[in-house]
Amino acid sequence: MNDADLDVHMNDRDLARMLAVDAAAGLTASPKWLPPKWFYDARGSVLFEEITRLPEYYPTRAERAVLTARADEIAARTGAKTLIELGSGSSDKTRLLLDALRAHGTLGTFVPLDVSESALRESVAAITADYPALQVRGVVGDFTRHLRFLPRGGTRMVAFLGGTIGNLLPAPRARLLADLRDLLEPGEWLLLGADLVKDPAVLVPAYADARGVTAEFNRNVLHVLNRQLRADFDPAAFHHVARWDPVNEWIEMRLRADRAMTVKLPELDETIEFDAGEELLTEVSAKFRRDGLAAELAAAGFALRDWWTDPAGLFSLSLSRAAPR
Ligand code: AVJ
Repeated sequence: MNDADLDVHMNDRDLARMLAVDAAAGLTASPKWLPPKWFYDARGSVLFEEITRLPEYYPTRAERAVLTARADEIAARTGAKTLIELGSGSSDKTRLLLDALRAHGTLGTFVPLDVSESALRESVAAITADYPALQVRGVVGDFTRHLRFLPRGGTRMVAFLGGTIGNLLPAPRARLLADLRDLLEPGEWLLLGADLVKDPAVLVPAYADARGVTAEFNRNVLHVLNRQLRADFDPAAFHHVARWDPVNEWIEMRLRADRAMTVKLPELDETIEFDAGEELLTEVSAKFRRDGLAAELAAAGFALRDWWTDPAGLFSLSLSRAAPR
């Protein structure tokens, strides 16, 4: 692939530095925490793909059902010329949008943004091969820092799919929505995939599957720290915990230490003590209600235009328009 197809604003050293900063802050805090973005090295990305095929993990299938049903309507409604996708990963569901926009005849440019240069290279190459008339411009960056490098002009639609918005706590979530509103001109579009509040008997198994794939995905962050920061975590000594928080309406994933442990992180000059039973928070996955999300969008300067769900009402796809400033 030609490097003309990729804008690189972040390299592996930047990523390693960010991981070190996050690990130093999170592992010395009480309670201990780590941001969920560090799950996704090569192995973590494979494990996540496996999660999306689990019987208990409904969000991916439900979102694909809504996108399949509504892609043509989205294309007709927006007439988008440029599709920007945040945290695009494998860009597999994105093809439903690209197909509809191409059939509608408006699409010219696709701009996937992702922190992983290798993942982005692969998806840019695959999309370029399958959509020869499309201009594809990958941006290697973090959506909290590099939105200003996204292209201007045309009629743009930003897609943020998969329910990843739920990984952000309320304050950073409001920040991101406001930053997206700043990026866009009045009348441009935001397409958001968000998982919905539902019975914990459905929610909890989606994050604690019978085969233990999610548990392995959760522990993978410790393998990432071992490799990147030369830490000496024993991942097998940590148990996967998934819990529904009914007040905040989010799922929390934690790793619980089976026994007291001392973990060395020579790269950080840190030694971290775990008590037996102590928990490390590794992910929050917030679930939404229509009114709540509409209010958050409005506060950021978006007007909710359409709200769709899969037939079972598990997952939402919403289309919002940047309001006049
Ligand atoms: C990719 C962030 C949407 O929160 O459901 C899956 C990640 N974590 N199983 C989610 C995840 C545990 C997923 N997102």
